Amino acid sequence: MTVKIIGTGRGIPENIVSNDDLAKIMDTSDEWIHSRTGIHNRHMVKEEGTTALAVTASKNAMKKAGISPEEIDLIIVGTVSGDMCFPSTACQVQAAIGAVNAVAYDISAGCSGFIFALNAAYGYIMSGMAKCALIIGAETLSKMVDWNDRSTCVLFGDGAGAAIVKGVESEGGVLAVAQHSDGAGGDVLTGKNRNVRNPLIDNKEEVFYLEMEGQEVFKFAVKMVPKCIQEVLEKAGKTLDEVDLFVLHQANCRIIESVSKRLKVPMEKFPMNIENFGNTSAASIPILLDELNESGKIKEGDTIVFSGFGAGLTWGATLVQW
Ligand code: COA
Repeated sequence: MTVKIIGTGRGIPENIVSNDDLAKIMDTSDEWIHSRTGIHNRHMVKEEGTTALAVTASKNAMKKAGISPEEIDLIIVGTVSGDMCFPSTACQVQAAIGAVNAVAYDISAGCSGFIFALNAAYGYIMSGMAKCALIIGAETLSKMVDWNDRSTCVLFGDGAGAAIVKGVESEGGVLAVAQHSDGAGGDVLTGKNRNVRNPLIDNKEEVFYLEMEGQEVFKFAVKMVPKCIQEVLEKAGKTLDEVDLFVLHQANCRIIESVSKRLKVPMEKFPMNIENFGNTSAASIPILLDELNESGKIKEGDTIVFSGFGAGLTWGATLVQW
């Protein structure tokens, strides 16, 4: 048996906010943002939340996979920006789509959330604990960034992507997985929005935002992502030449260019959509995957490396034969 992605979908907010729009409300420019990150536009929610985007992505993925909600027995959502602390986004999605036979929970692994969800679903299915999983990366980071901090707020966007992952009797599918965490390095990217608030202390209504030491995160990503890609290939006995596509977390085009250079793999093999979405954290890989799938850029038999990295610190990769 192997584990295959049999359907993908995305849920994208309608509203587009361009760099020029941001330049009207803060001291920035399209030139600064685009030259450092590759971003021109990002989508942003107005009324809908993380769950609504996740539900749209899930329904689209189920439709493409041709499965009913009752067939899903596992739902995992990678998110750091759920609408509520609890119930989990996954349980909310379960209710909305009627996946009555599923166990559902969230994973908090920052921008690696979708990869960790995919790898977890792989483990569940291979061990016999599940047969058909819905995995989702969904975020509304626009509510977590500090809109007075131009060095971070311009980088992020909202969105969701989903995939149906199923155990099937065939060749290919997930060939190998790799994943890592470094909690000691976690201070460079934080969202401390749950401060102590109880009768024992003087309650100060402090508000915390997403905070990032951009250059440290950059250095971490360009060092660990190539290593992790090599690791997952070694596990499967494959070489870089055998990979058709590298679908990386869309944090910054310069990070992706640096990974391409370090691996000595041409940029043509690294598809990007960051220009239109910004960094949608756990949602970026499944949104890009759905676009590639929909446009026919992924063909049966293609060898694909997915790799994510982010808060935790966390990073991981999944090697798939489509
Ligand atoms: N518009 C205009 N100027 C800006 C700006 C903005 N939006 N944000 C910061 N600046 C200014 C700074 O104030 C600084 O000015 P100064 O030199 O006068 O102090 C200057 O631009 C350079 O800032 P710096 O932070 O050194 O820029 P940088 O070249 O490191 O680029 C990032 C910043 C965030 C784009 C870059 O560090 C990065 O991409 N890091 C990775 C972040 C990431 O991908 N995180 C998610 C991982 S999951």
